[in-house]
Amino acid sequence: MRMRLSIICLTAGLFLLQGVHGQELESSAACADCHVQAVIEWQTSRHALSTAATNPFYAAMLRWAAAVDDEAQDKCDVCHVPVKSLASTAEMARQLEDEGVTCDVCHATQPHGKWLRLHTAGVKLGPSHDAVSVVHASQFSEHLVSSRQCLTCHANLESAHGFAFCSTQKEYLASSFSKKGVTCQDCHMPAMEGKTAELGKIRQVHSHRFYGGYNPEILLNCAALELVVSREETQLALAVKVKNRTVGHALPTGSPMRAVYLSLKALDRDGTLIWQNYQSNPLLEDPDAVFMRLLEDEAGRAPAPPWLASRVRFDQRLQPDEVRELSYDIPAANVATISAVLQYRLAPPAILQKLNLYDESLSTIVTIAAARYDLE
Ligand code: HEC
Ligand code: HEC
Ligand code: HEC
Ligand code: HEC
Ligand code: HEC
Repeated sequence: MRMRLSIICLTAGLFLLQGVHGQELESSAACADCHVQAVIEWQTSRHALSTAATNPFYAAMLRWAAAVDDEAQDKCDVCHVPVKSLASTAEMARQLEDEGVTCDVCHATQPHGKWLRLHTAGVKLGPSHDAVSVVHASQFSEHLVSSRQCLTCHANLESAHGFAFCSTQKEYLASSFSKKGVTCQDCHMPAMEGKTAELGKIRQVHSHRFYGGYNPEILLNCAALELVVSREETQLALAVKVKNRTVGHALPTGSPMRAVYLSLKALDRDGTLIWQNYQSNPLLEDPDAVFMRLLEDEAGRAPAPPWLASRVRFDQRLQPDEVRELSYDIPAANVATISAVLQYRLAPPAILQKLNLYDESLSTIVTIAAARYDLE
């Protein structure tokens, strides 16, 4: 049976970029001579690697989705290759298609109803009120520097069965960070001093690396672990507190493939393993230790991709500002040390295996936080 892939973007998500006649968005190559730093940083970001040609994970998921829905490519490319339909020449179309979420997606469009369209031809939208360049006009944009800019694509996605499998907007709005006015850019485009353009003046510039799940720098210590142990005759009662520290939304957010595992070990004085909360698959052995939104299909198989999923088996992601407490009873004999490690994965091994993706960058496990408790 062919299943219909139905992705409904709840907020300003799905959009069409409509070009003004005779004008079109430019390629990042047209910025490279002057905005050297922004271009180099953006090239390493996921925004520059969001297409089927540049991201093998996206390509494989897209093929899988296309096998059950003829229109999958168009539906998925709305956000992953957002401006390919805009170009007026075939050559420019090819360039923009290769570039994914390119400069002008953010710097030359404005909201238009539920959609976006090209802003005034030849004008670049920026964060400064006084930027001047000979090659293009510049204009300050309130939209560009607000979270709404990012939420165009990062807001919410719903499955055909009506459950959310991406809910970054809702999570962010519920966080103490958004209430304090901290934006997506504040955390994902940190400011430093530098030049906006070669020959330009020194100002605050913002990182275009867009650090996220692929970058240990932003993952390290974004959550903290605390262990409390008490002796109860032959047992040790272990309480593990997992605290969301610096994440302005759920940990993890966005793609339902992302997962965080809590791994616990009890060791004797020689370092020999006495107990652990799971050996190989925490989903089977200790599901409470899996911080993830797990989707399952009609037959109860998990993890399932959004288009095959009929329900959420559980959503145990660590919400913003949340402190989660987990309890374990451990046999006390010979235990000298208890260690805890919080680990981040881009995708469950089962999905990567199914897609024949053995790329190291996808299976790397990043340690977010670690803690240790010595009993003597
Ligand atoms: C010939 C050099 C040159 C080229 C090519 C160029 N720019 Fe600029 N751009 C500048 C200069 C100079 C400024 C003003 C810098 C300042 O005032 O500090 C500027 C300003 C900007 C700003 C406003 C920055 C702010 O602080 O508000 C944006 C956004 C921008 N450019 C984007 C682009 C994009 C996107 C491209 C490619 C499609 C591009 N520019 C091509 C030289 C260039
Ligand atoms: C036109 C749609 C679009 C807009 C606008 C957009 N993004 Fe993205 N973003 C994407 C897509 C698509 C990806 C995933 C690319 C991939 O990995 O295939 C992504 C990836 C990311 C990632 C990396 C996620 C990871 O797991 O590593 C971060 C961080 C990010 N975006 C932040 C932002 C911020 C901050 C803004 C606003 C300034 C923004 N995005 C605006 C579409 C968009
Ligand atoms: C996903 C959206 C997005 C993409 C893609 C993007 N930018 Fe930006 N850019 C922004 C935002 C947002 C700011 C302002 C950040 C702030 O003020 O917090 C900015 C700021 C700038 C500035 C002003 C200096 C600074 O760093 O604040 C320049 C110049 C610029 N971008 C050029 C580029 C170029 C060139 C590219 C492509 C190589 C690019 N941007 C890609 C969102 C984007
Ligand atoms: C207070 C800081 C903060 C704010 C605000 C924030 N983020 Fe994040 N974000 C993080 C941290 C830290 C991570 C790394 C932990 C993680 O992967 O969730 C992250 C990860 C991500 C990821 C990677 C996916 C994942 O969770 O693995 C995406 C996508 C993302 N953020 C998008 C956004 C968008 C869009 C906004 C605005 C609506 C935003 N973030 C606001 C701190 C923040
Ligand atoms: C409304 C915009 C939107 C649509 C439509 C969309 N995506 Fe995405 N996608 C994103 C954003 C934003 C991210 C980054 C979130 C994150 O990293 O957690 C992303 C991330 C991904 C990732 C993870 C990439 C990586 O390198 O880890 C895959 C795979 C993916 N999308 C596949 C698809 C497929 C297949 C479709 C169509 C069935 C699709 N997407 C439709 C916005 C969208």
